Amino acid sequence: MLLCSSMMCADFGALRDEVQVLDTAGVDIFHCDIMDGTFVPNITMGLMDVKAIRAATDKPIDCHLMVENPSAKVDLFLDAGVDIIYIHPESERYVVKTLAHIKERGASTGLVINPDTSIETVSEMLNLADYVMVMTVNPGFAGQKFIDFTAKKIDRLAALKDEYGFKLMIDGACSPARVREFSARGVDGFVLGTSALFGKGKPYAECLEDLRQGKDY
Ligand code: DX5
Ligand code: ZN
Repeated sequence: MLLCSSMMCADFGALRDEVQVLDTAGVDIFHCDIMDGTFVPNITMGLMDVKAIRAATDKPIDCHLMVENPSAKVDLFLDAGVDIIYIHPESERYVVKTLAHIKERGASTGLVINPDTSIETVSEMLNLADYVMVMTVNPGFAGQKFIDFTAKKIDRLAALKDEYGFKLMIDGACSPARVREFSARGVDGFVLGTSALFGKGKPYAECLEDLRQGKDY
């Protein structure tokens, strides 16, 4: 199971310490939400935050680009040494071309789809995706309610992942109960924000251990 810490939920007054504690606690991937205030109605992390995280850990970093025309921005993040770049097909005209470019630069590709987007819309793009992430909330904010109808899409993608060879991830309202439930339904990885990791009043290491054991808290 890939457990990804949603870094927009971390304490930015102590970012380096947060990264090091999460690293030691057993986080698999550092998830960085990059927003432009246009594709989504919020602005959170930026390139300099990603560079600071890169300097503090050797573990994989992903950038979830919630920006218009991500093809024009992916090189900034690749140059910063990130390992995985997620783009939204809803904001990019040439998705396959952009995914191919990310691969050519030696990074892994991620396709992340909004609750509005159907599998039919993205089926050709699955060919070039190392990771497919289903948004289970509308992107932009932590602490939202899980959108139940996305579960059907998750099940359908779980049935396709071996054929296409991608890892299936979910982002948004991943509580301990949902991690347990969707892990059993074939989801490989989870973005952990306020629902399971940050502000829970217990050490990150214990949260991650409980999630791996399927425990509630
Ligand atoms: C946006 C973020 C959020 C968030 C997830 O892409 O990745 O979805 O931090 O955490 P929750 O929903 O648990 O606060
Ligand atoms: Zn995200």
